[in-house]
Amino acid sequence: MKSPEYDLDAVRSQIPILRTHIPMNSCSQAPQCSATRAAADTYLTSWNEAGMDWDAWVGEVDAARAEFAAFVGAQANDVAIATSVSQATASIATGLDFTGERCGVVASGGEFPTVGHVWLAQERFGAEVSWVPVRDGMIHLDDYALAITEKTLVVSACRGYYQTGFKQDIGAIAEMAHERGALLYVDAYQTMGSEEFDAPSSGADFVASGNLKFLMGIPGIAFLWVRPGMADQLHPSITGWFGRENPYAFDTQRLDWGDGARRLDTGTPPVVEAYIARAGMAWMRELGMAAIADWDAHLGLHTIQGALARGLEVMGPTEGLHTPTTAIACADSHAIEAALRERGIIASARGPAIRLAPHFYNTIDDVDQALDALADVMRAAQ
Ligand SMILES: Cc1ncc(COP(=O)(O)O)c(C=O)c1O
Repeated sequence: MKSPEYDLDAVRSQIPILRTHIPMNSCSQAPQCSATRAAADTYLTSWNEAGMDWDAWVGEVDAARAEFAAFVGAQANDVAIATSVSQATASIATGLDFTGERCGVVASGGEFPTVGHVWLAQERFGAEVSWVPVRDGMIHLDDYALAITEKTLVVSACRGYYQTGFKQDIGAIAEMAHERGALLYVDAYQTMGSEEFDAPSSGADFVASGNLKFLMGIPGIAFLWVRPGMADQLHPSITGWFGRENPYAFDTQRLDWGDGARRLDTGTPPVVEAYIARAGMAWMRELGMAAIADWDAHLGLHTIQGALARGLEVMGPTEGLHTPTTAIACADSHAIEAALRERGIIASARGPAIRLAPHFYNTIDDVDQALDALADVMRAAQ
């Protein structure tokens, strides 16, 4: 029987909630682990004992920036700190110029609503937004080929579709976008931490991710990688003192721009979130992202196959590129989520589906138990 390359029991001992629950909700919120708990405590102790230690706290934000950069095979200077993917997307969107002939935004229908909303908000400034449809829970390359034209300024494609777990071929989309002179923005929130992702070789020009899903963190911090050399072309109207060449120049009447992607930083950064984000990512990198990706893929496939074997209706593709998340169609997903929680299983309801998203700390037995319980509660709900 397959097992992960790391010591799964040792990993599980670092995640207290596994003693009482089966968390299968990494597509929404990862569980707390010893490393993230300790990181939060470090900040709280510093705040309590030093009262204020801004240099150390801002240093920790830079350490989190560097950790994310290492996570995506990039340099720290090419990573901006945001507080959400919405804000990261808006930094890019407001930094682009939609007043010329090339004003098109081609967004996939699989974008998380927040990303679509940011692009739509640019219509006031000349953007013309068009959509690549979702068909059968997937987004097809042929449809991108039809939608991207010489007028397209930017293509917006999530790596993983939050609803069904379908994963897009970023390299292929990038090729199409670049052939027609367009940029590619990738929201990798539903995959970051579940696969090896090398931003510089991905083909994307911008890659954003928050921290609370497969990255083991919490809300309030997000990261934005910008292809080297691209940042200088962006003049975002979402900005703040940390986006300046020297945040401590305190020159209210001068708008200069920080080096590299730092120009996309905004106000006072998310400090406690940075402590936690860094710790979660560092632990995962220590375990090895190749090993985590391998185990996640195995768990994901087992979830799909197990759902089908139990007669559950899987939404979206059952083979091919896929995140660890499996979506099972159900009439009242929130009631199902609540019924599962009563049995100690944490799943994630999203619209017409209940999603099971195992991650590197889960066992095959976790998946089987979750699927058995799901089949049970769905039968009871009929
Ligand atoms: C793919 C994806 N993008 C973005 C978001 C939300 O981003 P934020 O709340 O950080 O703006 C989610 C959240 O669930 C998501 O799944």
